[in-house]
Amino acid sequence: MPSPTSKTPKQTRSLIHQPHRDAWLEVDLGALEHNAKTIKAHLETLSAQHGRTKPLSLMAVVKADAYGHGAVMVAPILKACGFSQLGVASIDEALQLRQAGIELPILVLSASPLWAMPLASQHHVQLTIFNPSHLKALAEQKQPVTVQVKIETGMHRIGVPWQEASGFLQALEGIPMAKVAGIFSHFAQGDNPQACQQQWERLAHVLAENPTEAGQPVHIANSLGAFNSPQAWQQCNVARVGIALYGYEVPAGVLPQALQPVMGLKARFSHIQQVEAGEGVSYNHTYITQKRQWLGTIPLGYADGLPRGLSNQLTASYQGVRIAQVGMITMDQTVFDLSPIVERLGKPPALGNVITVLETGKQAVPATETGSQPLTLSAWAKTLNTIEYELMCGLRVRLPRIYTRSGI
Ligand SMILES: Cc1ncc(COP(=O)(O)O)c(C=O)c1O
Repeated sequence: MPSPTSKTPKQTRSLIHQPHRDAWLEVDLGALEHNAKTIKAHLETLSAQHGRTKPLSLMAVVKADAYGHGAVMVAPILKACGFSQLGVASIDEALQLRQAGIELPILVLSASPLWAMPLASQHHVQLTIFNPSHLKALAEQKQPVTVQVKIETGMHRIGVPWQEASGFLQALEGIPMAKVAGIFSHFAQGDNPQACQQQWERLAHVLAENPTEAGQPVHIANSLGAFNSPQAWQQCNVARVGIALYGYEVPAGVLPQALQPVMGLKARFSHIQQVEAGEGVSYNHTYITQKRQWLGTIPLGYADGLPRGLSNQLTASYQGVRIAQVGMITMDQTVFDLSPIVERLGKPPALGNVITVLETGKQAVPATETGSQPLTLSAWAKTLNTIEYELMCGLRVRLPRIYTRSGI
């Protein structure tokens, strides 16, 4: 009888190396590149229009595994498109990038545990600091730790209050192991230029009292603030861009070219059946067939991030034909009414045929001429009264990701 040997874990790893799923995310690297280049070009135009005096550099926000797109895959592309720094939410996210050989400067935008400072130092990861416990921990370090100071100007999440920032910065100056690489804050309402202006003025007050070294990063703008309130951050030299890179949240018309959704969602039919009229579908029979009807099931559910709240409201596409999802979305499986396919194509799809639940690239950009609505997270967000950020992060939990590249 074989004894448990060291081979077992190796075999287990190789078994799950290739995902065995008939539902997957498609990450369109062509759309990502299009977005990154469009954003960079437009921010440069805005800088020229608003008389920015300092050269602008761009931070790609790749926290939460690049909002579900895979930070290790997207970071090199963003670097090639001119993004020279990365923003993450934890030291672990930074280490994952370092482990993949990514050498760009990385800032952890949230608070980090004090005991992890030596690890951050060892891997050249910049930490965000803002309270006295950070100063105390820095004073105890044996190796240099690179930090950026977060100033609270109106978001009220983390940060040293702007009125108290001078004392904090002066105390920091006396700590030999603390290397200050920047000062920043965060817009709470990027699409409200007045609110942004007030936050900038609070940060500007801190900077006036504590002049930064030439070229030291100063930043406050996220995607929405960068495009909608350019005046409010024209004296900064870094913009932190997240959601726009992934093709969302910047309304059509703000940029000269529309951004393209990067995350797609597809699945293969796992069951095709014909059901009599008057039969209930899925839990609690929230959908009753109106006629003898073809139904198709896909192996995708709310455990994959397909929100249960979309039950009976979701639409997908099969060879250009729109189909409605019917009955409750369950944890792992979801049913569609295939009637429009049978009407248009003369027969139901076959087992294993692919449907698109979320479109990417140019296909996912609303065509203004026809007014047709593409299959996007924006449509889901509208139905669910939430934001695309939440939905895209939810989709990464269990689904395999496949990388594609549409034409740019
Ligand atoms: C501190 C900070 N900066 C920048 C961003 C990027 O924001 P956005 O994805 O809206 O561009 C975030 C995202 O939540 C953030 O928390």
